[in-house]
Amino acid sequence: MRGKFITFEGIDGAGKSSHVEWLAEHLRARGHTVLLTREPGGTSLGEKLRELLLNEPMHLETETLLMFAARREHLAQRIEPALERGEWVICDRFSDATWAYQGGGRGLDKAKFLALEHWVHEHLQPDLTLLFDLPLEIARERIVLANRVLDKFEQERADFHHRVRQAYLERAQANPSRIRTIAAEKTIGEIRKQLEVVFSTIC
Ligand code: TMP
Repeated sequence: MRGKFITFEGIDGAGKSSHVEWLAEHLRARGHTVLLTREPGGTSLGEKLRELLLNEPMHLETETLLMFAARREHLAQRIEPALERGEWVICDRFSDATWAYQGGGRGLDKAKFLALEHWVHEHLQPDLTLLFDLPLEIARERIVLANRVLDKFEQERADFHHRVRQAYLERAQANPSRIRTIAAEKTIGEIRKQLEVVFSTIC
């Protein structure tokens, strides 16, 4: 039986990464084999592209093409083979991030996004996407508290992040059965409860 494909999304500072690991353990405890991975990245080539994408200024279309190039490699090398083997794949970001960041944040033409999405993964969408949503101010506070060097996206102004959040919420509204919104300003314990409710219906 084919495995399930789960993605995590949200604006920078939404805190999704700390729950990705927890979910992998939660699923393993239920007997599933889990591949935990991320985008941009997930392969040796993808991680090199990540370095460039997160740090190097570039034209919007170059940025978009490189995101999808890394994704193509990731799908071919890791995601599709794992799903074929019946494993569950948990991916920290996928194409909804391109929709939100390059589309919403930077204003990429929607038709160009759709053409690339069709080209790169016409027959594959996540079975479930968890969108970690919270007010921008709380997300920003978390980033400041982490006290580390900020990447290119984290350095963007508040209006950029506002557009990213709006684009995510619009995408969630357009795909209600795939994308579940998690109230990410809550405590870790309350977020885990929300995740357990979502997963009790599918595993
Ligand atoms: P991360 O820090 O959550 O791993 O995400 C890396 C950054 O890359 C984050 O700021 C969002 C951005 N990104 C895009 O702009 N487009 C994409 O398609 C993906 C996957 C990530």
